[in-house]
Amino acid sequence: MAIKELIAASLSVSLTLGLADTARAQTIKIGVVNTLSGGSATLGEMIEKGYKLYLKHHEKSLPPGVKLELIVRDDGGPNPDNAKRLAQELIVRDKVQLITGLTYTPNAIAIAPLATEAKVPVFIMNAGTSVITTLSPYISRYSFTLWQSCLPLGEWAARKFKRVYTAVSDYSPGHDCETAFTKGYKDKGGEVAGSVRMPVASPDFIPFMQRAKDAKPNAVMAFIPAGRQATAIMKAYGDLGLDKAGIKFIGPGDITTDEELPNMGDVTLGVLSVHHYSAAGDRPANKAFIAAWKKEYGDKTWPSFMSVGGWDAMDAIFYVIKAQNGKIDPDRTMQLVKAYKNPNSPRGPISIDPDTRDIVQNIYLREVRKVGGVLANVELETIATAVKDPWKEINKKK
Ligand code: PHB
Repeated sequence: MAIKELIAASLSVSLTLGLADTARAQTIKIGVVNTLSGGSATLGEMIEKGYKLYLKHHEKSLPPGVKLELIVRDDGGPNPDNAKRLAQELIVRDKVQLITGLTYTPNAIAIAPLATEAKVPVFIMNAGTSVITTLSPYISRYSFTLWQSCLPLGEWAARKFKRVYTAVSDYSPGHDCETAFTKGYKDKGGEVAGSVRMPVASPDFIPFMQRAKDAKPNAVMAFIPAGRQATAIMKAYGDLGLDKAGIKFIGPGDITTDEELPNMGDVTLGVLSVHHYSAAGDRPANKAFIAAWKKEYGDKTWPSFMSVGGWDAMDAIFYVIKAQNGKIDPDRTMQLVKAYKNPNSPRGPISIDPDTRDIVQNIYLREVRKVGGVLANVELETIATAVKDPWKEINKKK
């Protein structure tokens, strides 16, 4: 080898080693703002179990020497001031390079200006109000929008039910669901029998379900935050005998969230919902996910759509870290996010819409049935494939 070539070769070796050394020293700090206490603690628990399972199965695939340090903060529920303070501390004091979690919309909205100001990418694991991703170029979403489920739900319901009563939690995802459902339903000729908005904090669902019953609709369409609230509204529906009066219960999949089905009981049988994920989905990737979940958390437990949001967001975080060889540059990260795709998510193929940084995914019609003696959201059909957020699509066309 000529001297020049030798120098070039040794330079390239030391450059490679140098890179490897940098990677070896690299700890990436990730802030997680999640709901881990209060009435919605089970939501954060579902999300956390989802992303922790991903970490357990994939940590070894990070570039050599790269470590993730997760700094977890509990926002206690829909509390924007709290979420903003926590995000501020994570950015300024802990110097996190990325923020994830975000169970609740008001909390995600509250931290959007901080993401822009500090150039910190925010990967949303749950919060589902359409507008969120428009509030900062550093936000991307790996969960769903309420428009993705409630618009097709409305179109489908118009073919099945003459009059539907809507009952939603009185905050932005509830408003999104009500607007989207009503549009889909009315556009296809349905008649809204009445509408009610219910408090998001500690609601008593009895008076609202009574009003729904009194309106004598063919079905009640409800949105509430999943978890224990879903069980409480289902109980009110059953206790007041709406099922016996022939009034069906329909909604986005939040109303029959998989992990709560055993607590809800047989009143759920026949409940129809539209959603992007069901633990009963028979895709091979979901079967593997469920097997891993049961091995880790117990044979009688189920993940929810929120767990899959946690799993998929962590997959996207791994993707941006790997593509940058163990670093996170905010602008490069957001460029990479726009090309993110996973044909094998437990929910089916997903990708990020490069124009909006929002999730693109399939939407399923499901019915609660007993499978092997266990209540399950059985997917009846894929009602739409590769669905972008309809709210953004509609507003783009204007
Ligand atoms: C939200 O606040 O965006 C949210 C919370 C719980 C859900 C769905 C959406 O089940």
